[in-house]
Amino acid sequence: MRIDKLLANVGFGTRKEVKKMLKTGVVKVEGEVIKDPKTHVNPEEDTITVNEDIIEYKEFVYLIMNKPAGYLSATEDEYQETVLDLLEMGDAVCQPFPVGRLDKDTEGLLLLTNDGQLSHQLLSPKKHVPKTYYATILGEVTDRDVQVFKTGVELDDGYLTKPAILEILRSGDESEIHVTITEGKYHQVKRMFESVGKKVTYLKRISMGPIRLDEEELKTGEYRELTEEEIEELRAAQPIQL
Ligand code: URA
Repeated sequence: MRIDKLLANVGFGTRKEVKKMLKTGVVKVEGEVIKDPKTHVNPEEDTITVNEDIIEYKEFVYLIMNKPAGYLSATEDEYQETVLDLLEMGDAVCQPFPVGRLDKDTEGLLLLTNDGQLSHQLLSPKKHVPKTYYATILGEVTDRDVQVFKTGVELDDGYLTKPAILEILRSGDESEIHVTITEGKYHQVKRMFESVGKKVTYLKRISMGPIRLDEEELKTGEYRELTEEEIEELRAAQPIQL
């Protein structure tokens, strides 16, 4: 990769700005001053410094966020804040994007990466990994609902969902549930409950495939990098039939 591209990618400005910076002699590769923007470097192997600070270059970034309500799962929006606004500069420069969407008012586990292949693998309809949500529901969730969810729910547009596992945590005028689905239709959980005459009043994703949200570790609005082990687990995640 060209040194000017690498430095621009990690946030040292535009290619033009990087070219100017290179001219000042502050950039070294393997201890040697490099001034030519066309110089090819191997970011995996070469030690690259700017003013003696080592540049950590990662091609891919994998993040887990505890998404707060009020943020769009998008990379940009003219008027509203997106989850990317919650990232530090060093992570944002890698241009991660959300793996699937959570509604603006939904909280919880959101993965972000710039690894298009992994994202595709997790989201492609054939390979959809299970996702579990915690929700509060206006209305009494019953065993009959559990059975309906098990066979698939007909949504408002006539689409019959794949089977879902509904677990009642507390049933009453306001109920609490866990629901696991393997698809990602628009507003799916909310629409599944609408189909059985109930309303989701709070929704939070608590797991996606093998990755679980630990709310002690990640408070709302916080995020961290996934570990190598977690990334491997995600790569190996298989679709399941509920
Ligand atoms: N289902 C919904 O209705 N909303 C979400 O954000 C995620 C799943």
